[in-house]
Amino acid sequence: MVRSDTLREPRASVPAVGGDLPLDGVVYQVYLRSFRDGDGDGVGDLVGLRAGLADIAALGCDAIWLNPCYLSPQRDHGYDIADYRAVDPAYGTLADFDAVLDRAHELGLKVLMDMVANHCSTEHAWFRAALLAPPGSRERERFVFRDGRGAGGSLPPNNWGSVFGGAAWTRVAEPNGEPGQWYLHSFDSSQPDFNWRNPEVAKEFLDVLRFWFDRGVDGFRVDVAHGNVKADGLPDHHGTGHNYAMWDQPEVHDIYRGWRALGDTYPSAKYFVGEVWLPSQDSLASYLRPDELHQAFDFGLLVQPWNADRMREAIENALRVAGAAPAWALSNHDVHRAATRYGQSQSLDAPPPTDMISAARRTGPTDLELGLRRARAAAGLLLALPGSAFLYQGEELGLPEVFDLPDGARQDPIWLRSDGEQLGRDGCRVPLPWDASRTNLGFSPDGAAPAWLPQPVWLAGYARDAQKADPASTLTLYRDLVRARRTLFGTGPLRWLAGPDGLLGFTRGDGLCVVNLTSRAQPVPAAWPAGRHVVATSTGTDPATLPPNSTSWYQLAGSDTSGRGNQRHNL
Ligand code: GLC
Repeated sequence: MVRSDTLREPRASVPAVGGDLPLDGVVYQVYLRSFRDGDGDGVGDLVGLRAGLADIAALGCDAIWLNPCYLSPQRDHGYDIADYRAVDPAYGTLADFDAVLDRAHELGLKVLMDMVANHCSTEHAWFRAALLAPPGSRERERFVFRDGRGAGGSLPPNNWGSVFGGAAWTRVAEPNGEPGQWYLHSFDSSQPDFNWRNPEVAKEFLDVLRFWFDRGVDGFRVDVAHGNVKADGLPDHHGTGHNYAMWDQPEVHDIYRGWRALGDTYPSAKYFVGEVWLPSQDSLASYLRPDELHQAFDFGLLVQPWNADRMREAIENALRVAGAAPAWALSNHDVHRAATRYGQSQSLDAPPPTDMISAARRTGPTDLELGLRRARAAAGLLLALPGSAFLYQGEELGLPEVFDLPDGARQDPIWLRSDGEQLGRDGCRVPLPWDASRTNLGFSPDGAAPAWLPQPVWLAGYARDAQKADPASTLTLYRDLVRARRTLFGTGPLRWLAGPDGLLGFTRGDGLCVVNLTSRAQPVPAAWPAGRHVVATSTGTDPATLPPNSTSWYQLAGSDTSGRGNQRHNL
């Protein structure tokens, strides 16, 4: 019902992993607390997710990536884990989790969880034990505890800053009540970093992975995969740029070799995709060695302005680094939504390599109509590329970022730690609108408590039920694109076509993808493959002309799927 058999054939040129999860699959990212609320407490949960899985399958997706749903005090909404083998009661039970897994598998969807191994929560049993134990103890050695500098150790052990603002160190009170050592936290103070130079930590995580793999989980997205290990001696950071001592240490690769070896012992090998934010995309390559992660997100495209040259360069770069199968994303739970980003002024300055994420979290005047047009066109580009595409929930509805949240409702530690100077990420995490006429826009069952983040009134205009019935909706576009992509592009390599400024064109498999990034209509160049018909389009249906800010996909007549027939168009 969901996909035809031909769409499920194993890919020839791209190895299959995680059972039949291909490296060119479409993965739907579920931010659980905002996806769907099953029990009426205003917070999304596993029962709600189970009910919504059919909609994800109907989009034509191959897998879901579930943001952390483990037991957590929710200071960073699940990225602060208190117990890696338990489900947070706000989200349900282990039995609810198993029910999600079963239903997903029935629908042909693989399930990826999120592994947060750089840090846990201050509520984790190990950290509580560390607080009760003396300096130098086995309990403290699982974390990064150090004596402070200066008189009485009152200054942090080094000058590192937290990604979320402020110092990366917090001082503890020793069991006798005296001010004591400091612990390292690359993120919020509620997220103490593990000491990955301690073999006990490595052993524990292999055990955790086994726990979930044995339940049937198909793989993991690896949180801050370049974090985990810190430079020996924890040297001070000099300058204002990227702190090399905190990230991307050579020893970090041993972790993924161990995880991959474990995953490969299962009859249908388990899959890993890493979140690796580094100043240079080239550094991704080392995480993608054959015995490490299968894929790592390419964020180079996500941070580009709406500009043909810049996007093409980012795509070429990713293909160079990741080979045939990058993992693309244009949005996630950490950045402003695409419809908003593309509706803002497009700075051609390169994103500051020290903080690529903040390049995707700008404020300023926004033209939402333009932004949505471009976001729809960008979806057409994303889904035509070789490799896998990760879709963040709500992108298929064309949701913009919610800027009009009351200050008191904001919960992101970035907002709290920056004293409101940075809005943070709450605006892309507002609960989804399912049905404009129901409680919490159908996110919750009728009569439920208010949604955990307030949904602005205008969000009703994006409700899924209305979009389902509308052939011109963004949801319909996504469905068309996701379902057509396999048959049209297959596993063929991308071959660029030479064209005028602002127009991107490439052939792949049986398809031609044309993206017009300019604000004027552009004819498809006469020299490009002829005899084509439109398969999907973000705006307009004229096969000869691309409207401003639009993408069209064409089926090439008599094309040679091996790619040989397209070679003459290769630059
Ligand atoms: C990653 C997650 C982000 C989280 C951070 C700390 O960047 O994507 O949401 O806050 O790691 O775990």
